[in-house]
Amino acid sequence: MKLVENKSLTAFNTFGISVFAHFFSSFSSKDELEELLGFAPAPPLVLGGGSNILLTRDIDGLVLKNEIRGIELVHEDEEHIYVKVGAGEVWHSFVLYCLGRGWAGVENLSLIPGSVGAAPMQNIGAYGVEIKDIFHELEAYAIDEKKMYTFTCNDCEFGYRESVFKGRYKDRMIILNVTFRLNRQPVFHTAYGDIRQELEAMGVKDLSIQAVSQAVIHIRQSKLPDPKVIGNAGSFFKNPTVSSGKFEELKVSYPTIVAYPRPVGLKLAAGWLIEQCGWKGFRRGDAGCHAKQALVLVNYGHATGKEIYDLSEEILSSVNEKFGILLEREVNIF
Ligand code: EPU
Repeated sequence: MKLVENKSLTAFNTFGISVFAHFFSSFSSKDELEELLGFAPAPPLVLGGGSNILLTRDIDGLVLKNEIRGIELVHEDEEHIYVKVGAGEVWHSFVLYCLGRGWAGVENLSLIPGSVGAAPMQNIGAYGVEIKDIFHELEAYAIDEKKMYTFTCNDCEFGYRESVFKGRYKDRMIILNVTFRLNRQPVFHTAYGDIRQELEAMGVKDLSIQAVSQAVIHIRQSKLPDPKVIGNAGSFFKNPTVSSGKFEELKVSYPTIVAYPRPVGLKLAAGWLIEQCGWKGFRRGDAGCHAKQALVLVNYGHATGKEIYDLSEEILSSVNEKFGILLEREVNIF
């Protein structure tokens, strides 16, 4: 644990945006965190994998990188395995750990960039599974009260890319570890999108969690840019939900509109809306809209956070003008 002054954050955000933190340190235990918080007059910016933020300015205060490690089997019964994981573990490494032991539940969430601690903040999801489906509980440190709290699935109030940690506990709680409930017997989720076709193309006869994981990895690699090569933070916007009335109205003018029924209304594919506005593959300077998935904004090298943000504003306006839908950003802006 070492407090560093004027630290570049380029390597700590997957957009690869060059900004500086006035003070920076990492912590690998609750005690180290408490000591560091003693130096900070204001809540720090805590980074996990830095894979869901857009940094638009230097950070005046303290930036902390969560490096709490460890994967521990805490309980098992006939059906489930309960595993407690340090928030600083890399998400995909944890997925591989589970696959290696035949523990099911995380295979559809393969290759999502970021850390374990950041995963519940926005209830990460992909290919028909969300973290809430395998979540048991987490422990978080309350900055003001200087005390630990345990959150159950209900306490987290998980929604689509939402939780209390993005809402009312933003800047107030720091997630230190997460306990997952994994399955001994897999329950396969292969209905989403291209998974079944991909499994067929792979020649898979006997379904396994390893095969599903490979299929997801192939699909992700085919349309999502690798942040190690092109800076990005995954989906920049959320898929919006509209009423059935609004959907019927849009369908008259846009018969190919992509929509998924929800308990109330329909969820629209924001990528489709953005593509229809002509942004897919757009590039200005080093800021762009990915050529294979319009929902992903990219930094080709030296874009500033503001350039990416301004592009997102233009995209928001044009989608609103054409479809009368106000998209919401999924990525956290600082
Ligand atoms: N589409 C287009 N044009 C585009 C992009 C998508 O027409 O440029 C259409 C596709 O053809 C498809 C539909 O939109 O019919 C959905 O596309 P896709 O399956 O790629 O998923 P998505 O809705 O765009 C969501 C998540 C992703 C997640 C995938 C798979 C959000 C905001 N994004 O994207 O999550 O990987 O589903 O489950 O919900 C992330 O959160 O960072 C992320 C990548």
